[in-house]
Parts: sequence; C-alpha cells; structure tokens
Amino acid sequence: MLGNFTYCNPTRLHFGENALDQLGAELAGYGKKVLLTYGGGSIKRSGLYDEITAILKEAGKDVLELPGVMPNPTVEKLYEGCKIARDNDIDLILAVGGGSVCDYAKAVSVSAWCEEDPWDKYYLRMEDVDNRIIPVGCVLTMVGTGSEMNGGSVITNHEQKRKIGHVFGSNVMPKFTILNPVYTFTVPMKQMVAGIYDAFNHICEQYFSGEDENTTDCIAEGLMRSLIESSRVAIRDPENYEARSNIMWAATWALNTLLAMGKSTDWEVHMIGQSIGAYTDATHGMTLSAVSMAYYRFIMPYGLAKFRRFAVNVWGISPDGKSDAELAEAGLAAMERWMNELGVSMNIRELGVTEDMLDGIADGTFLMNGGYKPLTRDDVITILKASM
Ligand code: NZQ
Ligand code: ZN
Repeated sequence: MLGNFTYCNPTRLHFGENALDQLGAELAGYGKKVLLTYGGGSIKRSGLYDEITAILKEAGKDVLELPGVMPNPTVEKLYEGCKIARDNDIDLILAVGGGSVCDYAKAVSVSAWCEEDPWDKYYLRMEDVDNRIIPVGCVLTMVGTGSEMNGGSVITNHEQKRKIGHVFGSNVMPKFTILNPVYTFTVPMKQMVAGIYDAFNHICEQYFSGEDENTTDCIAEGLMRSLIESSRVAIRDPENYEARSNIMWAATWALNTLLAMGKSTDWEVHMIGQSIGAYTDATHGMTLSAVSMAYYRFIMPYGLAKFRRFAVNVWGISPDGKSDAELAEAGLAAMERWMNELGVSMNIRELGVTEDMLDGIADGTFLMNGGYKPLTRDDVITILKASM
C-alpha cells in the first residue's frame, strides 16, 4: 500500500427492497425546505415519485420540485437550480434518479451560495468550496456512476464544448443514499449495459496503474468478477433481483474512493470519454466502451505484468504455454467478447463522432499521469482514430 491516507466515507447507505422505509428517519435530520430534483419522468412512470412525495408529506416538509435534469446535466440547468435553491433557502436537496440527477444535486449544493460563476470556479479553475454547502440525499434509480457515494459531479458546457468532472470532498458526498435494486428493473437495456460498463471501467481506471503488490487491487479483481458474472444474468433476465442487487452493490464500491486507497490511478479513458461526451452528448458508459479497447491495447506493453494478472485473476485464463504478451492480449480479448455480449458501443462513429471533431476532442481531453503510459495529445489522436 503506497503512501499515507485517511479513509472515511460519510455516506450512509440503506440497501434492499425495503430501503425506502428509512427515508422518513433520514429526513427528520434536516429543516423543512426540501428541493426534490429528478430527471425526465421515469420516476413518475414507475410510481416512485408518488411514494417519495407521500413520505415527504408525512415528514411535514415544504417541497419544491426541480424536474427535468437531463442525462449529462448542463451548466444552464445548474444556474437554474442555484437560483431556486438560494431564493428558497433550501435545507436539503433530495435527488431521485441516476448519476446525472445525483451529480446535479451536488453541483447545486456547492453552487447555490457561491458568489462567483460556479462553472469557472469549480470546473475550469478546480477550486475547493469555501461557501455554504446544502446537504444532499439520494434515491438511486440507475446504477453505474457511483455518484450515490462519492463527491463527483460532472457538468457539461455545450457552448464551450467541455464536459468536466469535479471530485469534491467528503463534505459534498450525499449524506444518505437509498439503494433499492428493484428500482433499476425499469432501466432500458441500453442504459443498463452502459451503466455496467461504466462501473467496470471505474474499476479498470483504478486497477491499471502501479507496480506494487496491493490489497486494493485484490478487492478490484473481486468486484470485476462479480460484475461480469451478474451482468451475464441481468442481460438475459433484467428482473433477476440477485443479479441487479450485486450489480448495484459492486457499482457503488467501484467508485466510492475505496479502490483508490494506497495506490496510483489512471482515469485516461474517462478523460477521453468526457471530451467525446462534450461533442456528442452520448451516453457516458458508451463513450468509455467505445475507446476502451484501443486505449488498453495501446498502454498494455507498458503495464504488461498487470495485464497478465488481469487475464488470469479476472478472466480465468490459463497462463500455460503463453508468452506475457499473449496472455495479456488473451485477457483483453476476453474483455472485448464480454463487452460485445453486453452490446455496448465499440466505436465512436456510432456515437456521432466525425473526423472533423477529432482535434477538438483531443484538445478537450485532460492528460493524466497516473497510468502505465501517460498520453501525449498525438497518442490521444491515435487512440481516437483506432476507435472510429
Ligand atoms: O431522466 P429520467 O426520466 O429519470 O431517465 C433516465 C435517463 O434518461 C433513465 N433512468 C434512470 N433511472 C431509470 C431510468 N429509466 C427507467 N427506469 C429507471 N429506474 O436513464 C437515463 C440515464 O440516466 P443518467 O442519470 O444520465 O445515467 P447515469 O447514471 O449513467 O449518469 C450519467 C452522468 O453521471 C456522470 C456522467 O458523466 C453523466 O453526466 N458521471 C458521474 C460520476 C461521479 N459522480 O463520480 C462518475 C462517472 O464516471 C460519470 O462521469
Ligand atoms: Zn464513469
């Protein structure tokens, strides 16, 4: 384990089919004014909206609604939420939805009382919060991002063609999250598989880095095996509670800070994927899957030992008779077959990327240095071209 660290995740999780029973007790810890924020209507169709508004009423809350949070929430939507939260002196933001709604709630939470433009301060200048933070609670309906138990908040600025994530500290993480796997049964297949690959890639981003023997990597391998196994059940039988509950739990642990403890991390697939998202508004998980094979094949020679280990420990491939490079490639080929089974996007053209966008996408890609091969801008172009 590298370095010194303090580990504390303050988000209280309530998991299971009856998890919503805990919402009333959680609400009692906050003032009367609740901002209920949600997406484009899936919670109304599923009946969850009615259940939650009944609990809020029972708890005696004054509820203000902020619907219409879009996938990949925009900076304009952020400004709208800030005004509502501030004008109404909101005590708690309750986010009901997927990662977009939860990310959005955190962005409003830190921005409502910010005297500067939050896009400039938090996303372009990456500054810390130094103003009042409105607490956030979350009821998760779609699995993948880990937003329910982390400080991440990704906002898209279409005018500037930038999609940027700020990972805030533990004071911004949701105070509580309700995780009921049954809510995810209605997620469309395309979103479900995108979420599964998103969670898988969060693990990869934290696994493919470092040369040291590290307990955290062993946890990562277990989570990957569980996700692969459960995903194969869920694509055949989306209402299989056991599979959906395992996927939900694995995805939460994939990005709640645990897997970054005591080791270096990469995040370059996410940096490329976010820049693609800024140009195409494509589904987040698909922007990752579409560049992953080109990226991992590109960096594999620089991190051969870990890619060998990935083949054996995650995909169960026998090392017998294989050179290091053959074994590493066999692991990536197994991953590629699984991605095809899921049906995630395997090229960026189908996401709407055209040749004339490649330079701009490369310019918008942050270059990280924790992975096996810190990329140059030219490398990003090479990977994008190989992903067309
Ligand atoms: O808007 P509604 O009507 O609710 O529909 C949503 C949306 O269209 C639908 N959906 C969600 N739950 C459903 C459902 N449909 C039927 N039944 C349900 N139970 O699914 C669609 C996608 O939802 P969204 O929240 O956009 O998906 P996801 O959870 O993948 O979130 C994506 C956002 O999170 C960011 C992404 O960049 C993107 O902006 N990320 C946040 C991270 C973090 N906080 O750490 C990390 C990730 O890497 C990611 O970048
Ligand atoms: Zn992600």
